[in-house]
Amino acid sequence: MYICVCHGISDRHLREALCRGVNSFEELQACTGVSTCCGACEHSARELVNEVRTTVGNSATLASVD
Ligand code: FES
Repeated sequence: MYICVCHGISDRHLREALCRGVNSFEELQACTGVSTCCGACEHSARELVNEVRTTVGNSATLASVD
């Protein structure tokens, strides 16, 4: 599912970045470009950061990006 339509960034792409060690919304912006155009995706991207942060280390989360 696309999170950021402006840049064509999917939730999978963002999850991969978060599982590689990106640890904040700002870092996610810097490394993927998410929410750097219209900003409409900011809420969804922030939710994804919080979701992955709370489940990091959970194998189900890591498996979802395979
Ligand atoms: S939808 Fe992500 S910056 Fe516009």
